[in-house]
Amino acid sequence: DWTTGNVIEEQVAAIREQVGDKRAICGLSGGVDSAVAAALVQKAIGSQLTCVYVDHGLMRKGETEQVEKDFVAATGVQLKVVDAGERFLKALAGVSDPEEKRKIIGREFIRVFEQAQAEIIADEGPAVEFLVQGTLYPDVVESGGGTGAANIKSHHNVGGLPEDLEFKLIEPLRKLFKDEVRMVGQELGLPDEIVQRQPFPGPGLGIRIVGEVTKERLDLLREADAIAREELTAAGLDRDIWQCPVVLLADVRSVGVQGDGRTYGHPIVLRPVSSEDAMTADWSRLPYDVLSKISTRITNEVKDVNRVVLDVTSKPPGTIEWE
Ligand code: XMP
Repeated sequence: DWTTGNVIEEQVAAIREQVGDKRAICGLSGGVDSAVAAALVQKAIGSQLTCVYVDHGLMRKGETEQVEKDFVAATGVQLKVVDAGERFLKALAGVSDPEEKRKIIGREFIRVFEQAQAEIIADEGPAVEFLVQGTLYPDVVESGGGTGAANIKSHHNVGGLPEDLEFKLIEPLRKLFKDEVRMVGQELGLPDEIVQRQPFPGPGLGIRIVGEVTKERLDLLREADAIAREELTAAGLDRDIWQCPVVLLADVRSVGVQGDGRTYGHPIVLRPVSSEDAMTADWSRLPYDVLSKISTRITNEVKDVNRVVLDVTSKPPGTIEWE
């Protein structure tokens, strides 16, 4: 019989057997898969596991704290956090092209991760022989059933690690679908904010600023995004939508009026979508009163934003993200 309890028990035994007295490392992205994979391995081998979280400064409000505090509190995992925000900003300076941004973020991510990894390997203790990955069954199928770091779609994983790594992989979620992974995560006591998290792109808010990425723009977008998420959650809509990118059109300005004054600010785009697998999507018919509340709050509370617009494009022809 398939139960989350059985899956956990089986995997814990298998991981213990596989790892023996060696050590393992795991990159956390803030997403469901890596969190559940790490929690399972932690349950199996405890302090023989070290997790690495690269804070690229492109996360949404509260997400880094969720990993640093809530995830650690729930699992007791050993975590190394690298605060690399400055480094990513520097590397992204002057860059507006979406694919260029992705390349830079991916490249910097690997460099920072490898540095952290080298430091962990240099620590006293048994050899680090294993790398934990949150590969799911659909990923396995899509990549033809092969194993190895190479089977990760580069598009879908900033944490996509270099292929020349000499680690053996631990992939405890290989037989599971997403909803099963969430059930396992819940059973392992992970916070709802992590277990029920909607998809979020690895390059983060870096690809939700149309234009150059700067600290000020990130702060602004973080505020707008937090408001949208808060209101969608309050309205009980999280399960109805696949995800809702909130996008800053940083190079666009429009005229507005606020109080006695003319403003010349930026638009924020709401992109709520419904989807089964992100390959195709439709725009979500959100209730007008929810949209209205989000719009009012964003224009009142976020400096330099004087307009909120709704994206009513399906995919295709539009992608879910704007970049
Ligand atoms: P698009 O925009 O291609 O997005 O319709 C489909 C799904 O993929 C996510 N996405 C990404 N995920 N790295 C990721 O890890 C990326 O570069 C990336 N681009 C898009 C997007 O959020 C949606 O869920």
